[in-house]
Parts: sequence; structure tokens; C-alpha cells
Amino acid sequence: MSDKRKILVTSALPYANGPIHLGHLVEYIQTDIWVRFQKMRGHDCHYVCADDTHGTPIMLRAEKEGITPEALIARVHGEHYRDFQGFHVAFDNYYTTHSDETRYFAETIYQRLKERGLIESRAIEQYYDPVKEMFLPDRFIKGECPKCHAKDQYGDSCEACGTTYTPTDLINPYSVVSGAAPVRRESVHYFFKLSDPVCQKYLREWTTGQLNETPPLQPEAANKMQEWLGLEGENKLSDWDISRDAPYFGFEIPDAPGKYFYVWLDAPIGYMGSFKNLCNQNLPSPHGGGVGGEGGLDFDEYWSKDSQAELFHFIGKDILYFHALFWPAMLEHSDFRTPTKVFAHGFLTVNGEKMSKSRGTFITAESYLKQGLNPEWLRYYYACKLNGTMEDIDLSLEDFVARVNSDLVGKFVNIASRCAGFISKRFDGKLIKVYLNGETQPSDGEDHLDPVTEQLRDARDRIADYYENREYSKALREIMLLADAVNFYIADKKPWEIAKSLVSATDEETNNKNQLQRVCSIALNCFRHLSIYLRPVLPNLIKEVELFLQVDTLEWKDAEYCLPEGHKIGNYQHLMTRIDSKLIEALVEANKTNMQATADPEPHSEQRHAEHQQHTIQPIAETIGIDEFAKIDLRIARIVKAEHVEKADKLLKLTLDIGELEPRTVFAGIKSAYDPAQLEGKLTVMVANLEPRKMKFGLSEGMVLAASDERGGPCVLFPDEGAKPGMRVK
Ligand code: 2FM
Ligand code: ZN
Repeated sequence: MSDKRKILVTSALPYANGPIHLGHLVEYIQTDIWVRFQKMRGHDCHYVCADDTHGTPIMLRAEKEGITPEALIARVHGEHYRDFQGFHVAFDNYYTTHSDETRYFAETIYQRLKERGLIESRAIEQYYDPVKEMFLPDRFIKGECPKCHAKDQYGDSCEACGTTYTPTDLINPYSVVSGAAPVRRESVHYFFKLSDPVCQKYLREWTTGQLNETPPLQPEAANKMQEWLGLEGENKLSDWDISRDAPYFGFEIPDAPGKYFYVWLDAPIGYMGSFKNLCNQNLPSPHGGGVGGEGGLDFDEYWSKDSQAELFHFIGKDILYFHALFWPAMLEHSDFRTPTKVFAHGFLTVNGEKMSKSRGTFITAESYLKQGLNPEWLRYYYACKLNGTMEDIDLSLEDFVARVNSDLVGKFVNIASRCAGFISKRFDGKLIKVYLNGETQPSDGEDHLDPVTEQLRDARDRIADYYENREYSKALREIMLLADAVNFYIADKKPWEIAKSLVSATDEETNNKNQLQRVCSIALNCFRHLSIYLRPVLPNLIKEVELFLQVDTLEWKDAEYCLPEGHKIGNYQHLMTRIDSKLIEALVEANKTNMQATADPEPHSEQRHAEHQQHTIQPIAETIGIDEFAKIDLRIARIVKAEHVEKADKLLKLTLDIGELEPRTVFAGIKSAYDPAQLEGKLTVMVANLEPRKMKFGLSEGMVLAASDERGGPCVLFPDEGAKPGMRVK
């Protein structure tokens, strides 16, 4: 069996209404390194991405600029593509979600979900701008914060005090679009029934890794999923609203005029759209072979339910919910394959803080390149910081300068610059062969093996494992330790002193001459090995190295051997300059002025999906008569005792006194919000005539009242002064 893998890789699709910045680049650089590594290993690896083009913000942005959304997304596509190329992010296809391919798959998936009974429509009430005549996403409603009274706060959270709320909580809310006060309005929406037991069961199995050979999520992500899914039988997922009303920029839902697919429905489908478009470009010619040299790429081989190919999504931790819940559920129930793994990374901080426009640390990709900074400096620095977890990573600008200068210039490039000249000038550019363990050596009685070269070769599998597991920081630490060993070797052998001793051609000097050639050949072979290991991170620099060493494109398998006897290298040209910290100061300055000039509200990355969220006003339940209400016997209860329950994630065991002879036991799902000690002695309200329920942990004889919704909770109810245990609540 061939061990050549078929791999499809994606990065999250950036919105088509803002520039690429250093925060975005963490992900694209992380993914690009992984893809380059897989390609170097000889696997069939394809990397696709696209602009995420739909939704209200894009529609309104185009309107503000006085152009069509199509014109806006075409322009931004060009800008994004340019920036990615500038950082050597080598997509096999960079497409758009506003495409026939994505529309086709969105409609197909929707249709299949509908056939399975997993789409439902119902009327809901939301906020509406009566002047602009459109429904308003939460971030397009502003008003006064109900807590700290800061003015002009968004409808989902206050930037001044951090409180989260819903648009109704705002004092004097107004539409950002027209200034009008929002009104409530009802409209029919389409829902993907995630609450259906079929979906819940599937997701429980998928997220816990029961369906794949290896778990599809990182351990931290899997834990989060458990929280979202709740305990077995808890049915915590609610249905997902996948429609938006006109006016909207997106795909109209078939058979539902005026209703559009919500941007987050078609965004991940854009991965399929982009890949399909790549397959179309790669159609095999009738004479065999394919356009683009790869032969035909078969869409179904990668996306059909029984696909043997691997599918990897690189994403930020803020969009895990979409990729680990909605996306696999959509795919599974529409008969496509599901992701092999979803890799989430953390956010970027700059100098230990959130990127900030006023501090000039909200740095765009374009400005970085325009200031003349080398993109590979950033690729290297990010790689030094990245690992396989969801931890945030920090770009410390001072450390950036120090690390790049010391590692890349001081350690790596230095090896070539110290040895290349001797080989070119004295040996006509020719290297002698360095043998590795396992190779047949010449039988001239000499030992041709060398411990440093051996060390370099032996690291190959370890470094490969680090790359495979996205432990780039470990890979680079190892590579730099190897570079240290090579520099130590050069310092020990002092080729410059050997060279000085070569004044005439006596036997002694010939030996020294051989020695000089051997030392430099060993060092340059080691340099070649280091270049192989660094190539996923520094593709451009290594291209120059290949030119200097006069070798073909370096592949991972090339680490098995050294260069052949008499291999001729080219002339050494300086490979990389040091970072001057003045460049960084100028970059920060440029971004200070830049961003003030275009002061568009750019939400933090954690809020990227929140900007599209549209608040649904919770409808009030069916009317009941007073007699029906009177059936519920609510009593004031004193919490005599509150305890943790062994092996229960959610529950606290409460002992409640309601004036009866014996206290009652109630198991309440409030562990996430309360410490038992905090509750003891307090009064609360309980439903006293609820049928006792046998639970795994014991009998629960009632229920305490607590409030909750998507803003938080549970918040237990505590009565006002004067209430006594046993009093009836009416
Ligand atoms: O959060 C974002 O920036 C989204 N545009 C990511 C979409 S990823 C995928 F689902 F398309
Ligand atoms: Zn506030």
C-alpha cells in the first residue's frame, strides 16, 4: 500500500470587508507551514481558501462606498490575494463564496437536510429598522449601556464596562444604519434542527472521537464541546437559524422568496466550492495528464461520504462552535464526509495586549510589506511561538527583532557565510563527500563519518513529528540547537586559521588543505540539512539557498543523505539582513495614522461572528388561567446545606427546609455558578409539589427557581427580607 496521503486543508475564510492584518496571518502562516511540510513529504496535499463574501456588513459597506457588493468583493479579493502572496501563503486555490459552486453545494445541502426533516420554519420576532426597512444584526444597534451608562454601545456588549446584554437592554437604542429606534417585527425563519435527537447523538459521538480513528478535536476543544452539548439526555443544543430576510447579500433560499441563507451557512460550504473550482481547473485533458500538471482532481474522492482522503480545517478558537457543531452535523446529514480534524489556534496579542489601533499595533499585512519588512521574519517568529494548543500567542516586538536577528542571521545564515568563500576560492566551489552511517565508505583506512552531520540527519523524524503535530516551536528549538552544534563545530575547527596556514604546497599543507575542504564541506552539508528542515517556514529564503548550493528543490527525503563527491556550489550572496528596530518603530507609527484615517468599527476577533448575530426576542409562553398557575405550589425554602455531588459536573445537592418535619433533598444544576458555601443559610424559592424524580445520585424532591438565557445564569432567586421558610409564593 502506498503511504502517499490525500489531504485537503483549509484556513478560515476571511470576510471580504476588511484588510488582512497580523492577527489573521497567524492562521494562514500556521496552515501554510503545515501544507508545505506535507507537500515536502511527497503527499498529495491541496490547500484551498476563499473570501467570505456574504452578509449584512458587506452589503452595508458597499452601500456606504457607493458601489455594488459584487464590486466590493472583487476589489477586496484582489487585496487579500496580494497580501497572502506577499507572505508566501501558497493556496492551491483562493476563491470566493459568491460563486456558482458554493451556491450549488449550499442548495444541495439544504435540500438534503430538508428531505431528512431537519429543516423547520417558524415565525420569530426580531429588531427591525423601520426607516431602512431591514432587520438589524445586534452590532448594528447602539445605545446607552444599562450598567455604566456609556453612550453609543453596541447591542451585544459594552466596550466600556464589558457587560453583555441584548439590544432591548440598551437605553434609547437606535439603528446604526438610519438612526431610527428599532421596533419588534415578526418574520418567518428557517432553522436547522440541531436539537433533533439524531443531531445530538451524532455530535456527541463525533466530538468524542467515537467515529474516527483519532479524535477530531484537540482536548481543550473536546471539553468545550461537552459543555455545549451537555450531559447525555440534557438536549442543550437549540435549533440554528439559517435564514435572513431581504435586503441581504447572499444566496436566496430555493422556494423561499425574500429569504437568504445566513452567511455562516454558506461560509464553510465555501471550502467545498473552492475545492470544486480547483477540480474544474484541473480537468484531465483528453490526451492524458492534466492542466496544471497534476492530472484530474476528483471532487468526490475528497468529499463523498466514503472518502479515504483526509480533511483538515485550521481555524481560530472563536469559530469552533461553527466548525465542530454546525458543520459536521450539516455534512453528516446531507451525505458528505465530515472533517478528519479541526485545529483551533489562539488569538494574537501584540506586546502582551490586544491589538490596538491607537497604539499602532493593529498592523495590516499591507503596511508590514510596504514598510519593507521581510515577510519571512514574521513567518519565522510566529512559527517559534506556535504549538498544537488553543493558547494565545504574543508578538513581542522587541523579542521579534532579537529572535530573528539571533537565530536566522546569527545562527543559520552565518554557517554559509563563514564557509562558502573558502570552497569557492580554493576548491573551485567543490565539496568533498560526507558519509553518513549506513553508507559504504571508501576503503582508504580513514574514518569518513562525522558526528555533527550524523546528528543533523538523525533529527529528521523527530522534527517531522513536530511539524505533523503543529508543534512548530519545538521543531524550531530543535533546529536552532542543531545550528548551534554546527556553529560550535566551525568555531572549534577554525577554518580561517587552517586557511591562513596554507602558504605553499608542501605535503603538510596539502593535508591542511584537505582538512579545510572537509571542515567546510561538513558545515555546508549541515547547512543544507538545516535548510530542508526550515523550508516549510522560510520558502523564499530556502529557494535562494537552493540556488547557492546548486541543488534541486529540497524535499524531506533529501535529509537521508549528503551531497555527492565533487558537488559544486554556486557563489554565496548574502542571504538575509538583520532587522533594524527603527523599521519596527516606523511600522507602528504608520499603523497609528493609517487606522485613525479609516476608523471603521472593526470588531475584535472574538466578536467576529457576533457582528452577524441577530437577536431573537424570546416569545412569551402560552397564556394559562389563574387556576392552572395555582396548581404550582411555590414555597420559601432555607438552604440548610449545599454540597458537591461526586462525579456530577453540573449538580449541587441542596438540603431545603420548608417548615416540614423532615428537610427535602433537591439536586439543582447550578454548580457552574455557585460555591456550596455561598448558598448555605440563604432563602430561596422552590417548587414544592413537583413529582419526586429518581436521579443517578438520589431522589430529588422538588426544584429551586433560577433564571438563565444566552447572556448567562443560572441565577438563583433569593426572596426579599421578611420571607420565612414554608411561606407560599403566589
Ligand atoms: O470569522 C470569520 O472571519 C469568518 N469569515 C470565517 C469563516 S470560516 C468558514 F467557515 F468559512
Ligand atoms: Zn457599560
